[in-house]
Amino acid sequence: MSEQKPIKITETVLRDAHQSLIATRMTTEQMLPIIDKMDQVGYHAVECWGGATFDASLRFLKEDPWERLRKLKAGFKKTKLQMLFRGQNILGYRPYADDVVEYFVQKSIANGIDIIRIFDCLNDLRNLQTAVTATNKEGGHAQVALSYTLGDAYTLEYWTDMAKKVQEMGANSLCIKDMAGLLTPYKAEELIKAMKETVEIPIELHTHYTSGVASMTYMKAVEAGCDIIDTAMSPFALGTSQPATEVMAEAFKGTAFDPGFDQMLLKEIADYFRPMREEAIQSGLLNPKVLGVDIQTLLYQVPGGMLSNMVSQLKEQNAEDKYMEVLEEIPRVRKDLGEPPLVTPSSQIVGTQAVFNVLMGERYKVATKETKDVLLGKYGQTVKTFNPEVVDKVLGEDKKNAITCRYADLLEPELDKIEAEMKQWKQQDEDVLSYALFPQVATEFFKYRQAQQTGVDPALADEKNKAYPV
Ligand code: CO
Repeated sequence: MSEQKPIKITETVLRDAHQSLIATRMTTEQMLPIIDKMDQVGYHAVECWGGATFDASLRFLKEDPWERLRKLKAGFKKTKLQMLFRGQNILGYRPYADDVVEYFVQKSIANGIDIIRIFDCLNDLRNLQTAVTATNKEGGHAQVALSYTLGDAYTLEYWTDMAKKVQEMGANSLCIKDMAGLLTPYKAEELIKAMKETVEIPIELHTHYTSGVASMTYMKAVEAGCDIIDTAMSPFALGTSQPATEVMAEAFKGTAFDPGFDQMLLKEIADYFRPMREEAIQSGLLNPKVLGVDIQTLLYQVPGGMLSNMVSQLKEQNAEDKYMEVLEEIPRVRKDLGEPPLVTPSSQIVGTQAVFNVLMGERYKVATKETKDVLLGKYGQTVKTFNPEVVDKVLGEDKKNAITCRYADLLEPELDKIEAEMKQWKQQDEDVLSYALFPQVATEFFKYRQAQQTGVDPALADEKNKAYPV
């Protein structure tokens, strides 16, 4: 057995937990009253920013995400703040030029982020290098997360080889990001053991409770030498979220792995969040369905969020009876596209294409733009080759335009152009980045903000749009 030491714990209640359970709707005002207590727990870090929180703040909560970060930083005096970062896509849904990626990293750290967890949906490390280098340069902690998945290509050798490359590229730690809850306890033991033998940087495990094995997986991983695990306070734990913080802390109590947390303090924190959970169930925001065990994730290797997207797509088409057919089509599409992990955005791309393939009654009769872009190499290199027949059918003549270089190498710097476009709204440097990621949503937010500040509703001057509450 490896060296036994207290396990470090990253708390996710302010990011992944509410993203996974209540569509990322926790507001800054809901977070602030409890962060002083959270700061006393002794967490390794609190994940509280990035992922979908940026989009959701601007779009649904009408909050400036940068302002949220500054407020959290002011409250967490001892605990490190962590964010989730989608490699070259930053927090958006398209690849950005390097100058935008670098500027986003710089501003994230300047506003309070300590640890940046960076991942790519294809595990193409070329898509992570710019963000890792920028984080190093700004004095932040660069963590590379490998998207965990199953499939012929994903052998133990694949993972240890990737771990080595992650260490070589300048990452300060490595995370195994099991977004679908596919990693079972003994597989985790084997994987962590092999990684600990391969690299020196700390290893963190991130999983979801979706398939019901997560807390057992953490236990075996910790026994095998895993340094850090991700948990969520119990009112926002389990189901499609993480194992509960209190439960994992108690499970290791009195052992060499004991994180030494004060259960009474954790109880006070849980008591604070519990009414929020109850309210979310009452309002329908939290569907009790997602709190149970979803064994389909193990059978079909599909993340929970992807299933709910698929159901709503089928509902819109009055084709809910096609559910099983689509579920079986997903692994086939995934194979055709080089067997990528299923995580934002590859999960949406594979899921939507599978829906099209089934509803059109002919595979790839219609291919989405995103499917085409994957086959053109724009998202990066997949671990396996594409199905050549699918490439021919979808791309045809366009096949000759496929690339093998890093897509961002083809992009001109774009920051100046973006800034020129949004100048009229700029009140802080960070606004340029909000606009870069979500041009329409950010503009709506800027209009709302201006209306709040001046008391004049810009919508009055614009007959088409009277939607801004002043
Ligand atoms: Co997650």
